[in-house]
Amino acid sequence: MEDKLAIVTGANSGMGLATVIALAKKGINVIMLCRNEERGVKALQIAKDESQSDGIELMIGDLGSIDSIHRFAEAFKTKHNKLDILINNAGVVSLKRQETKDGFESMLGVNHLGHFLLTNLLLDELKASPQGRIVVVSSGAHKWGKIDFEDPYFKSGYNVAKGYG
Ligand SMILES: NC(=O)c1ccc[n+]([C@@H]2O[C@H](COP(=O)([O-])OP(=O)(O)OC[C@H]3O[C@@H](n4cnc5c(N)ncnc54)[C@H](OP(=O)(O)O)[C@@H]3O)[C@@H](O)[C@H]2O)c1
Repeated sequence: MEDKLAIVTGANSGMGLATVIALAKKGINVIMLCRNEERGVKALQIAKDESQSDGIELMIGDLGSIDSIHRFAEAFKTKHNKLDILINNAGVVSLKRQETKDGFESMLGVNHLGHFLLTNLLLDELKASPQGRIVVVSSGAHKWGKIDFEDPYFKSGYNVAKGYG
């Protein structure tokens, strides 16, 4: 079997870390996209220990920063010209209204817009794979989600449930 390569975002905890370990156990090479180096290094060691795989790598990227997403994609492209699986897993739930570095409300900015940009920047590499896959981890909360195009970033009234949805 030809070596497969996956990127998992938000890979240092929760479902992201569990996904990295599961993919690595199947012999798939995995890049862990994490925003914090210290948490990333710790999680990388856990993933390697639990999967007994050497095919796991840590790359730093913050989905709350357009600049950081571009830098991540450029760094990826210097080393790889093909990506088999992109797992858009990272997510935030914020009780208080917060903004990304670019001024987007953080849940929309990180969970949706950041991944939208990352996916678009990696499309050529996904198309270069015989069976490229994009997996978007969402939430049942999408059922009550509706974008208010007049106020997409909740500048006039924030509500965590509405925002996350
Ligand atoms: N847990 C649930 O009950 C549940 C239910 C429905 C859907 N989900 C969805 O499932 C996904 C995984 O959730 P989880 O429960 O495993 O959550 P989690 O343990 O909190 O993991 C979220 C991951 O996203 C990362 N992250 C947050 N902001 C980021 C950013 N700006 N750039 C890069 N990475 C960032 C976090 O990194 P840090 O450690 O640096 O913060 C963390 O590694 C999320 O998309 C979540 O919305 C979860």
